[in-house]
Amino acid sequence: MTEPQEIQIERSVNLKAKPPQDQLGFGIYYTDHMFIINYHVELGWHQPRIVPYQPIALDPAAKVFHYGQTIFEGLKAYRAENGRVLLFRPHKNIERLNRSNVRMCVPQIDESIVLDALKQLITVDQDWIPTLEGTSLYIRPFVIATQPALGVAPSTEYQFIIIMSPVGAYYPEGVNPVKIFVESDYVRTVVGGVGEAKTAGNYAAGLRAQEIAKDQGYSQVLWLDGVHRKYVEEVGSMNVFFKINGTVYTPELSGSILNGITRNSIIQLLRYWNIPVEERAISIDELYEAGKDGSLQEAFGTGTAAVISPIGELNWHNEKLIIQDGQTGELSKMLYDTLTGIQKGTLQDPFEWMIDVPLHLLTPTAK
Ligand SMILES: Cc1ncc(COP(=O)(O)O)c(C=O)c1O
Repeated sequence: MTEPQEIQIERSVNLKAKPPQDQLGFGIYYTDHMFIINYHVELGWHQPRIVPYQPIALDPAAKVFHYGQTIFEGLKAYRAENGRVLLFRPHKNIERLNRSNVRMCVPQIDESIVLDALKQLITVDQDWIPTLEGTSLYIRPFVIATQPALGVAPSTEYQFIIIMSPVGAYYPEGVNPVKIFVESDYVRTVVGGVGEAKTAGNYAAGLRAQEIAKDQGYSQVLWLDGVHRKYVEEVGSMNVFFKINGTVYTPELSGSILNGITRNSIIQLLRYWNIPVEERAISIDELYEAGKDGSLQEAFGTGTAAVISPIGELNWHNEKLIIQDGQTGELSKMLYDTLTGIQKGTLQDPFEWMIDVPLHLLTPTAK
């Protein structure tokens, strides 16, 4: 592990015009600056810097292009009404980043380096944090293998980069249920594979199925396990929950699904409210049976982007299962309102999830 080093800051002299807050979309616009730190096997992580947002030049032989040795994270910063800037559980993202790093043979990055980088970059670009209801600043840290060498072996050089994008309200017209296609031909990953890691290949592997589902009018794919093609795993970029007969079920962390930070927060909230919640294997037959006998009360996805996404319809082998009459359920709404309220600082935070970004603490070079 490397000792914390002072981040050099080079400010942009060409600040960009900010887009209108009601037209932000997701991941379309980028702030004025980005953070970079390099790794070399002999130097460790070194040369942390914040520089104007710009393209990066890489050797065409860089390993990331050929063997996909890369990992990423996603988290959000919020501007609270009193002007404070809040990050939602960043330590969890940093822990997961390092778990993904282990799986992909990327060297560990000290938590203090990442947290300092996040806080300083957000401080430099704080004017980019949107304030309109439902908006936030999405933060995308990622690591790429940069060694120019075609042998299949872990890279000896990396870059860890953080970019940020102001994002719009996921539901500009209120929380809306989505229609989900249950995938039975393709699989995303298997236990023992890299499903637990937040690595690019998992997403590339899902694109084909997602495209087919979209053509049929479904917004995302629900993956089944790769061995039995029977147990529910997760949706595109969300974990899933089902309320059956008053108990909330979510697939256990089997090794092939992502350990979602929203998932973990929802489980904690449900326990806090004394609502029974169980992590266990859930078969798709069980869900359809519960749908038919009326015990399936609600279904929803959880993830950083949407927070809670109610599921109004499943389609498995052309059999449609309409859930909660295709409307948002009471529990989904309550979870959405509570979690977004905590994130925005309008509701109490009994779990101490929100971390303040101290907006005055820039390194001396920034002054
Ligand atoms: C595959 C996958 N599952 C689940 C999630 C939800 O995770 P989180 O709640 O940490 O955003 C994500 C998003 O990061 C994801 O990409």
